[in-house]
Amino acid sequence: MRLTGAVVLVTGASSGIGAAVVRRLTRAGSRVLAAGRDPERLARLAAETGAAALPADLARPGAGRDLADRVLDRHPRVDVLVNNAGVGWAGRFAEMPDTVADELLAVNLRAPIELTRAVLPGMRRHGGHLAFVGSIAGRLGVAEEAVYAASKAGLDIFAQSLRPELARHRITVSVVVPGVVDTPFFARRGQAYRRRRPRPLPPERVADALADAIVRDRAEVYVPGWLRLPVAVRGLQPAVYRRLAARFG
Ligand SMILES: NC(=O)c1ccc[n+]([C@@H]2O[C@H](COP(=O)([O-])OP(=O)(O)OC[C@H]3O[C@@H](n4cnc5c(N)ncnc54)[C@H](OP(=O)(O)O)[C@@H]3O)[C@@H](O)[C@H]2O)c1
Repeated sequence: MRLTGAVVLVTGASSGIGAAVVRRLTRAGSRVLAAGRDPERLARLAAETGAAALPADLARPGAGRDLADRVLDRHPRVDVLVNNAGVGWAGRFAEMPDTVADELLAVNLRAPIELTRAVLPGMRRHGGHLAFVGSIAGRLGVAEEAVYAASKAGLDIFAQSLRPELARHRITVSVVVPGVVDTPFFARRGQAYRRRRPRPLPPERVADALADAIVRDRAEVYVPGWLRLPVAVRGLQPAVYRRLAARFG
């Protein structure tokens, strides 16, 4: 799929990976619609890149559909949807406030499902691309991030299920699976990233991988690439994986 001239809706554009994706895609000549919660950060990004700012809170039921409706009022269709907005929470599951699970599932899983459904009719006529920002947490599971990992696993398998279903409509689907990325994500989830390794990667690495996945129709991209190894070990030798994970975390 060509990026030049494509109408691209990016969620979570006001920070971190989403902002890097907006910069990457506007440089490539896409017409980017940048959605996020913080109107001031979005307005600054829009002024810098030429993207259109679309402030929206995706935690409410129906918010994904409403955002898509606002976009489709201005544009006949969306060529590329980047489902990137996400929120984390770290800590013991038993101590997690009830409202947090609702928020994580709403923003990380329900809103992308709503947005995807809303843009599909146009895409089915003209083709397009659906990109999902998953997480290595959703492929491996992570202690003290159970609901976040579950929301990302749900998003991941949603995307993988859509890919064969939509292929005949010339709609391609990709999942980008980042490891640790240097963004405000960790400060916001209430627990800083404390490990020495793996080192956090710049969000631009994820943005480059995502752009490549759109252009070259890549079903999944790990960032960094070596993350496919623990996933493969877990798939082939789950007991070995559990022993290694218990030892090295
Ligand atoms: N950072 C990592 O290490 C890492 C690793 C794997 C996967 N990821 C995933 O990458 C994606 C981007 O995260 P990031 O690292 O760039 O984190 P970030 O800097 O915290 O950005 C998160 C984005 O999601 C938006 N968002 C959060 N809650 C929202 C809501 N209720 N409604 C609408 N938008 C909302 C934020 O909007 P505002 O800023 O306007 O509030 C922000 O634009 C997420 O899906 C995350 O799960 C991150």
